[in-house]
Amino acid sequence: MRVAVIGATGVVGETILRVLEERNVPVETLLAYASRERENAVSFRGVSLPVAVATSQRIIADRPHVAFFASSDDASAEMAQALADAGIIVIDNSSTFRLDPACPLVVPEVNPQSIQPSHRIFPVGNCTAIVLCVGLAPIERAVGLKAVRVSTYQAVSGAGRAGLDTLADEEAGKPPNGTFAAPILHNVVPQVGSFSGIGNNGEEDKVAQETRKTLNRPDLHVAATCVRVPVRRAHSEAVFFETERPTSLEELGDALAAAPGVVFHDRGIVTPLDVENTDVVHVARLRGETEGDEKRFMMWVVGDQLRKGAATNGVQILELLIEQGRFTAVAS
Ligand SMILES: NC(=O)c1ccc[n+]([C@@H]2O[C@H](COP(=O)([O-])OP(=O)(O)OC[C@H]3O[C@@H](n4cnc5c(N)ncnc54)[C@H](OP(=O)(O)O)[C@@H]3O)[C@@H](O)[C@H]2O)c1
Repeated sequence: MRVAVIGATGVVGETILRVLEERNVPVETLLAYASRERENAVSFRGVSLPVAVATSQRIIADRPHVAFFASSDDASAEMAQALADAGIIVIDNSSTFRLDPACPLVVPEVNPQSIQPSHRIFPVGNCTAIVLCVGLAPIERAVGLKAVRVSTYQAVSGAGRAGLDTLADEEAGKPPNGTFAAPILHNVVPQVGSFSGIGNNGEEDKVAQETRKTLNRPDLHVAATCVRVPVRRAHSEAVFFETERPTSLEELGDALAAAPGVVFHDRGIVTPLDVENTDVVHVARLRGETEGDEKRFMMWVVGDQLRKGAATNGVQILELLIEQGRFTAVAS
């Protein structure tokens, strides 16, 4: 299989290369693209590869079977449809197609059934929303959800390589450079994206809209406050949820412990450093809002947003498509 990665030099693109290697996806040829040409800028299975300038004409001419976009909304909007029209499966980490009714928003542990044979463009959801949905789906399946409220503690790598570099620069004594709305070192910044509408920032709207779409619950009340914290990697989320029917901590704990892609911590805490480089979502601190409460609960959810929130989720979508026989005519 010939696999293209657009944005291969970025933090998500680089993680896609590592996840493809680790999961032994049958990649025969890896084609790397970015905004400018470079020699030996990325490696795949121990071999340095050149990076080409991404244009739809160039990528189509290189004949990949699947193209991962890990670049920008603009790049996806400009190129993804042309690639799909040329018969290439597109797995897109930007927000461009996430709310398009013609595209499924697949989190393999949650809604693999949303894939139809006609689908060619597969957006990968917002990283915060993916981590949240993996934690919420077992609860929705077991007892139904009525409302979800979440406050997030989001890593700087969520803002790409620039986010990581900014934290490192501030740690080295350089002044803030505007990547974040305020200094990030020794601080927390309650803005992720630009403000709009009722005063939500962009990430807060994405979390609400994409959680409803992924859980197939257009009616679900979801409200978010999204906050950037000086953590390098992995997003944490304090989740408050109301259930449709009365339940117990035992029933919820059993549902979480049995859920695919979830590690449930019955006691103790879990932190972003604990989950770096893992592909599962960790849930801890499950408790009622008041003692004996049967409908209102709280939990702490943590996931590596570069892996489960982006690269791994995209590679899992490719694995599902391989299982479904989408590439049967393709030699590995
Ligand atoms: N970071 C996360 O946690 C996260 C999570 C989920 C989704 N996403 C999404 O994933 C995508 C990549 O994010 P990132 O965090 O990896 O960003 P990043 O570290 O800044 O990397 C961006 C990559 O895209 C390339 N690029 C930028 N504009 C391009 C263009 N017009 N044509 C081709 N390549 C272009 C860059 O190439 P150069 O090296 O040449 O500049 C670089 O390889 C974004 O859509 C982002 O919203 C990110």
